[in-house]
Amino acid sequence: MNSKGLLTGFSMGQGSGPVVEARNIHKSFATDGQRIEVLKDIDLTVKVGESLAIVGASGVGKSTLLHLLGTLELPDSGSILYNGLDVSKLGDEDLAAFRNRYIGFVFQFHHLLPEFTAIENVMIPALIARQEKKSACALAKDVLCEVGLKDRLRHRIGELSGGEQQRVALARAIVLSPRLLLADEPTGNLDTKTGQKVHDLILGLGEKNNMATIVVTHNLRLAQCMGRCLTIVDGRLEQSDPGRFS
Ligand SMILES: Nc1ncnc2c1ncn2[C@@H]1O[C@H](COP(=O)(O)OP(=O)(O)O)[C@@H](O)[C@H]1O
Ligand SMILES: [Mg+2]
Repeated sequence: MNSKGLLTGFSMGQGSGPVVEARNIHKSFATDGQRIEVLKDIDLTVKVGESLAIVGASGVGKSTLLHLLGTLELPDSGSILYNGLDVSKLGDEDLAAFRNRYIGFVFQFHHLLPEFTAIENVMIPALIARQEKKSACALAKDVLCEVGLKDRLRHRIGELSGGEQQRVALARAIVLSPRLLLADEPTGNLDTKTGQKVHDLILGLGEKNNMATIVVTHNLRLAQCMGRCLTIVDGRLEQSDPGRFS
C-alpha cells in the first residue's frame, strides 16, 4: 500500500497531549477453525511522558495489546492513532520508518544479535534511519553510557549477563529518542534485584526523556511504581490497584 504524503510534516507532540490512542479496538485470532476473541472494545489514551503498567493473567491479551499499540499487528476493527494519525493508513515502508522513529520496543527475551557487540546492536536503528556510521556509533555510545554500560561497549552479547543484555536492548530501543517505549515483561527473565534495577532504569529514562512508557509486568511491586495501572479482564481494560495485592 502506498501512503505517500501522510508522514510529510508529521511530528509527535511534545506538549501534554496524547501520544497514542486506541479507539474501539477489537482483536481476535482464528486457530484450528475456532475464533478466539482476545480484545473487545478497548479504549486507551496514553499521554506524553506518562507511565502505564498493564497487568493480568497469562493469555488475557497483554502482548496482543502491546503489538497493536506498537503497530506490529492490525486490529480487526477500531483504530490506533498517533497524535491524530491513523497508522493503519500507512503503507509497509512508511509504517516501518514510523516505528523506527517513534516507538521503542523491549521484550522479555532481548532479541539482540548475539555475534555482534553491544555498540553494533545499538547502532542498528540509527543505521536503518540512514544516519552515517560515525554519528550512529557516537549516539549508540552515549545511550549505552546512559544505561550504565560504559565499560561493556565492545562486548559481544553472549559475553554479557542477562541484566546487561536487557540494558543493551533498552539502549537499542531508545537510541532514536522515541516518544513511546513499549516493554513486554522486560524483567520477566531476570532475578528480582536485577529486574528491579532494569525497571528503575526504564522509569528513570522515561521521566528524563519525557517518553511515554507502557510496561507489561507480572510484578505488582513494579507496577505500583508506574503512574497508572490497568488490567485486562475478559478482553476489556479495567483500572487496577496493584497496592491491594502487596
Ligand atoms: N498469532 C496468534 N495466533 C493465534 N492465537 C494467538 C496469537 N497471538 C496470541 N494468540 C492467543 O491470544 C491470547 C492472548 O495472547 P497474548 O496476548 O500473548 O497473552 P498475554 O500476553 O496476556 O499472556 C492467547 O489465548 C493466545 O493463545
Ligand atoms: Mg505476553
